[in-house]
Order: sequence, then structure tokens, then C-alpha cells
Amino acid sequence: MMRLNSIFKTDTRPSEITPKKVLESRRSWMKYGALSLAGIALPARSEDAVKEKKSPLSFDKQKSKYSTNEEKSSYSDITSYNNFYEFGTGKEDPAQYAHQLNTDGWTVEVVGEVLKPRIFDVDQMMSLAPLEERIYRLRCVEAWSMVIPWLGLPLSKILNEVQPTGNARFVEFVSLHDPEQMPGQRRPSLDWPYTEGLRIDEAMNPLTLLTMGLYGELLPNQNGAPVRLVVPWKYGFKSSKSIVTIRLTEHQPRTSWNHSNPSEYGFYSNVNPNVSHPRWSQRKERRIGEFFKRDTELFNGYSEWVSGMYGGMDLSAHF
Ligand code: MTE
Repeated sequence: MMRLNSIFKTDTRPSEITPKKVLESRRSWMKYGALSLAGIALPARSEDAVKEKKSPLSFDKQKSKYSTNEEKSSYSDITSYNNFYEFGTGKEDPAQYAHQLNTDGWTVEVVGEVLKPRIFDVDQMMSLAPLEERIYRLRCVEAWSMVIPWLGLPLSKILNEVQPTGNARFVEFVSLHDPEQMPGQRRPSLDWPYTEGLRIDEAMNPLTLLTMGLYGELLPNQNGAPVRLVVPWKYGFKSSKSIVTIRLTEHQPRTSWNHSNPSEYGFYSNVNPNVSHPRWSQRKERRIGEFFKRDTELFNGYSEWVSGMYGGMDLSAHF
């Protein structure tokens, strides 16, 4: 069997390959075909199309109103230059080792301050709303950025299903902890499992996306298969990968990077060119694939939709 990492080392376009997971998840995608009424055409694929290695999915290219018009980063960059410490701290480690992760039968429990705690499988989550393609900027705290065409649904759709109680003020995201499958977890590079958190209004914001795919295909493992978060106005580390638990809480949850180094990584971590990282400026960023740096925008350019949530807050104190 062709290993994923050997695919990603080439410049093969997604339309020229048929990742194993796409085949395995055909049942799910067939179901999305039925969901295509809502505007995004997701045709059911035939066995033949798979055999002919045609693009497994073709989407209506109409962009979401939240999408940027900027040029997308290449599939090859998006899937070969990653941060996923569960598979090592090097940027190439996730593409090399994440094929070890078995995502079959994956479930996500949504628990805590909710009236109806529930365990969702991936199909159930995806059937709550039609999947949307949203082209978002991703700005990493290390001052590089990409533009990624994600495929997912607003997290609010899941949270509304479980009915948050009046005490739910925060949402915690817990990634898989399984050192057998995740070699990076055999080292104390972080206090495992990887945890992240948002305030409830941030989690309910329409930009916050629970993501299952990119470039019209299921997420490659190195990008956080089978389910990850994408919070485009925050530094990339807030976008947790391979999530197994979503917990609504009354108190601010502990988050991995804030716990490991509170002076460098705050709970909010909104992209902000005016607040430097203690070891480097955040004023500029290098788009992967480009030579010249560009200015970083407040809230990564998403102010229109998110600045209202931070009125009256001192963003240098709450960095
Ligand atoms: N999620 C988990 N579970 N583990 C990680 O190490 N890295 C974060 C975030 N989510 C990380 C994670 C960081 S630092 C970034 S920049 C983004 O994932 C990178 O996402 P990408 O590799 O899909 O570009």
C-alpha cells in the first residue's frame, strides 16, 4: 500500500491521488451528496470514479462570505509543513509519521456544562449541517502563514445540539492521547494530551469551524484528522487537531501552550501585530511560498466579525 508520506513528498495534486481514507469514508461522502441541496454540490461518487482516480469530490467553488480572496497555499505546502507535536517537533515530522494514526471509528464526546451530553461519530457531526468550503488565513505564532481551503461546519452547530447550560462560559478541546500511535507523546515536549480552550462566545462565533477536510478531501492525518478546530483570528496553536473531547466548563480551562510557557503564550492568543512575542515581533509574517514578508493584520484580518467580542479588554494584558 502506498504510504501517505510518500504521496505528500511529491507535488501530486489532490485530484491525482485517492488517499486510503477517502476510500474508507466513501459512505460518509455519499451521505454528503444528499446534503448538497444547501448550495454546495457534493456529488455522490461512484466506484468507477474512485478506480479512475478522478478527484474524489468536486465542490461548487462559490466561496463562503468568510473566505479570503487571496491565493491559496499549495496542497503540498499545507500537508508537508506542519505543527503536530504528537508526531514530533520538526515541521516535516507530521507528514512523515502521522500515517500511524488510525482514525477508523473515531468519536468525539461533547460533555460538561450541557443538558444533553453526547458522543458523536464523524458522520453524525458532518450530518448536522452542510459542509462549507472556507478559505481562511492561518497565522502561526512563529510568524509564518498560509491560506487554506478548509471544509467543515460551524462549531456552534455541535454546541447547540448538546444545549449548553447557563454555567457554560468556556469550551475545552482535548486531542487524542495515545503514545502507541503518537510517537511524540513518548517525550515530554508538552504536557499531554494537547488541550486548548475558547471562551463560549468565541466558540459560538460563526468563523469558528469544526473541520474535516481541506482542498475538497478528507483531512490528511498531519493536518489533524479526522476532526480539528480552525479559529482563524487566533494564532495557529489554538486550532486543536485530532479532537476526542469537547468539554463546556464554567472556569477557564488549562491550555497546553499557556501551561508550558505562560509568559509567551496567553489564553486568548488573538493575532495581534501590536503585541510582540517576548522573543520576536509579531508585526510581519512570511506567507509560505513567498519571499517578502507582509504586514500582519489585527485579528489576522477578521476584525469585522470578531473585534466586538473584545470591546473594553486590554489586549496586551489578555494576550
Ligand atoms: N493540535 C495538536 N493536537 N497538536 C499540535 O502540536 N499544533 C498547533 C495546531 N494544532 C498542534 C495542534 C499549531 S502550533 C499550529 S500552527 C497548527 O496546528 C498547524 O496546523 P497545520 O499543520 O494544519 O497547518
